[in-house]
Amino acid sequence: MVLYTGGSAFFALRREILSQRTFSIIKPDAVRKGHTAAILAEIEGAGFKIVAIKRASISKAQAEGFYAVHAGRPFFPELTEFMSSGPIFPMVLEKENAIADLRKLMGATDPAKAEEGTIRKKYAESIGENAIHGSDAEETAAFEIGYFFAGLELK
Ligand code: CMP
Repeated sequence: MVLYTGGSAFFALRREILSQRTFSIIKPDAVRKGHTAAILAEIEGAGFKIVAIKRASISKAQAEGFYAVHAGRPFFPELTEFMSSGPIFPMVLEKENAIADLRKLMGATDPAKAEEGTIRKKYAESIGENAIHGSDAEETAAFEIGYFFAGLELK
């Protein structure tokens, strides 16, 4: 007897090979306004698998470590003050082309310039308080995932 599993096995393997992980944070402004569930629904609705998520509160020093690439920029003190101003939801997301697709779903850094339908257009107020963060490249994603999650949390 020949057991045919070709089709679905092929697609499962393809998904595994092509899948990519990215890192995201639902920022304090969105959490304060009660937009967490709506943003997670947008993310899942766009086909992302939530691999890990937790609620966290970070200190200013921890925010400075996370955003170290921006140290010295004029907005750095304001950014790190804001990110340590209340609870956040850091998370690891997975899908094909996750890094670029999440950035598309988030919209431009400045919500005033974000496209209709994007998360920042719907839920953010300003460039400083822009509801969500998403990694911009593979190396950044690896650093950012490791900053918030231990290997055992990422199975
Ligand atoms: P994020 O994607 O988290 O990455 C760095 C953050 O710095 C960015 O979102 C903005 O929230 C913030 N940022 C960038 N440019 C400015 C700016 N000109 N003024 C204030 N905050 C900024």
